[in-house]
Amino acid sequence: RSIRVIGVPMDLGADRRGVDMGPSAIRYAGLADAFDALDYGATDIGDLDVVHPELGDPDSIEPSTGRAKYLAEVRELCVQLEETVAETLADGTFPLVLGGDHSIAIGSVRGSARDGDIGVVWFDAHGDFNTPATTPSGNVHGMPLAALLGRGAFSDVDWTTAPINPENIALVGVRSLDASERKALRDSDVTVFTMSDIDERGATAVTEEALSIANAADGVHVSLDLDWLDPQEAPGVGTPVRGGVTYREAHAAMEVIADANLRSLELVEVNPILDQHNQTAELAVELTASALGKRIL
Ligand code: ARG
Ligand code: MN
Ligand code: MN
Ligand code: MN
Repeated sequence: RSIRVIGVPMDLGADRRGVDMGPSAIRYAGLADAFDALDYGATDIGDLDVVHPELGDPDSIEPSTGRAKYLAEVRELCVQLEETVAETLADGTFPLVLGGDHSIAIGSVRGSARDGDIGVVWFDAHGDFNTPATTPSGNVHGMPLAALLGRGAFSDVDWTTAPINPENIALVGVRSLDASERKALRDSDVTVFTMSDIDERGATAVTEEALSIANAADGVHVSLDLDWLDPQEAPGVGTPVRGGVTYREAHAAMEVIADANLRSLELVEVNPILDQHNQTAELAVELTASALGKRIL
């Protein structure tokens, strides 16, 4: 298998500046060496072009209801990313997307789903299921799953047709939902595994079940928000929430992913400005290696 690394230095979807340095921090943490150790062929195609917040307009698109900051800019980037991911798969290579805030998942999932029937496993402290009408922040990184399902005012923009079936989406590790987001998720066909599920049944069993839900004909896209982990392990994220998975639980879950029909992978929300000695980016590299099949023996 050969991997194509795609950097997306995006922070327009998040309030705190600094996630745009995520791709650089992850590379600096030794991503290329991790591939060597795995005997993978990997090509890094550098970073996609993201407009600087100073040059964008937070109200570039005013949705029919509510607010979504920098929506035109986010959409333009996601179109680029969708193309790049779809092309990578068409070339027979494996897309590894480095974020950037979680709004980029709209592009990576759409790209991965373009020529295939896929499911999604979404590791996150949050639900990312707000719409422009329910968002408390206006930040698109809290809305990508809703956008992927064409919910709310996202049907105003091009994101009308859902590239994935909600029945093939599993959220894992959730512990922070806004009130209306919680209701919307409960009423949807998306499956949510909270931290309580992980406490009760363990990370391995929960990840196995998430994969069986996401198991579609052409494989699974894994979207890994580093705030899924406990802030003690991953302090370098924009929106940390206490009570996340431990280092060991995270590796155990990624080892389950390695045995699945993995089609594409993305790492998001690494913020080196808030990090301690790049530890969150280093963890992102380690977890990537586990997800791609690294074993001790
Ligand atoms: N629910 C909050 C919001 O909508 C936080 C979302 C955090 N999302 C993330 N990808 N870190 O603003
Ligand atoms: Mn997220
Ligand atoms: Mn499809
Ligand atoms: Mn999150």
